[in-house]
Amino acid sequence: MKKEDEIDLLELDWEYIWKKSIKKGMKKEKNWDEIAKDYGKWLENDDYPDVMLGKMRISSEDTVLDIGCAEGTITRKIAKKAKSVTGLDKSKLMLEELNKNAEEEAIGNINTIQMDIKDLSHEKIGDYDIVLASRCLNGISNIKETLLTLNEIANKYVYITVFGSSTHEYKKEKAKIAGKTFKAGTDYSVLFMLLKSLGIEANIVQLECENLKEYSDMDEAIQRSMWKLGELEEENKIALENYFKEIFVKNDRGNWVNPKDKTDLVLIWWKKE
Ligand SMILES: C[S@@+](CC[C@H](N)C(=O)[O-])C[C@H]1O[C@@H](n2cnc3c(N)ncnc32)[C@H](O)[C@@H]1O
Repeated sequence: MKKEDEIDLLELDWEYIWKKSIKKGMKKEKNWDEIAKDYGKWLENDDYPDVMLGKMRISSEDTVLDIGCAEGTITRKIAKKAKSVTGLDKSKLMLEELNKNAEEEAIGNINTIQMDIKDLSHEKIGDYDIVLASRCLNGISNIKETLLTLNEIANKYVYITVFGSSTHEYKKEKAKIAGKTFKAGTDYSVLFMLLKSLGIEANIVQLECENLKEYSDMDEAIQRSMWKLGELEEENKIALENYFKEIFVKNDRGNWVNPKDKTDLVLIWWKKE
């Protein structure tokens, strides 16, 4: 018999814990349209898309739903392995970039859907063999319903990546210099426990990405930081630039890299029973 003070982890309200940390982590919703034209360039030297693809079991017969696909760096790679891919994103401009890029590469098996993840349902979307939600769930509040929907849509596998916490100390330091307060946001362990409480036994993997964030000049580094931190006072901009000058090093492509800011992503995936 259970002792009175014994805690059953699966009975905790993991969605509540998740929601509480969103409020802490994300003050305002990001406008992804703003960076649609630049996002592909940000990913140019990022090894994450290939690391991620290496973890996915995709056959040439598979249909894939890529949620939060952005301008399609990953979507286009999947298209070359799968039967077809549908990229879903709420940003109209990101999807325009994706379609343009697919056309330029003569990829004919990609469809796009403009939709907010919050409105996603099996009835609207139908079945796919594989569902991917890469780096787009950290800010989703109806997370329980979303996870159940992803599970319902997938015939074979669901893959989710969320940001890890290994660079939090650096981000705290950077925010302080920028005159902002660091907020950790949602944590992958909560997502994992929420899935467990829903009866979904997922696998969890810390992805090993080697590449560092790379910038052609200091101005680009400041602009990309402002996308995350919001507008900065002039004095904080200067302080941040001086900080970057202290820690950045040049790589063999002649770009600046930040040794303290390695891509940190955790993969949570499961096979449909
Ligand atoms: C960090 S990017 C990730 C892009 C791509 N999946 C990757 O990993 O490189 C996040 C993308 O998710 C989309 N996104 C964020 N919240 C969303 C939501 N609630 N509904 C639909 N798309 C969303 C954004 O528009 C953006 O294109």
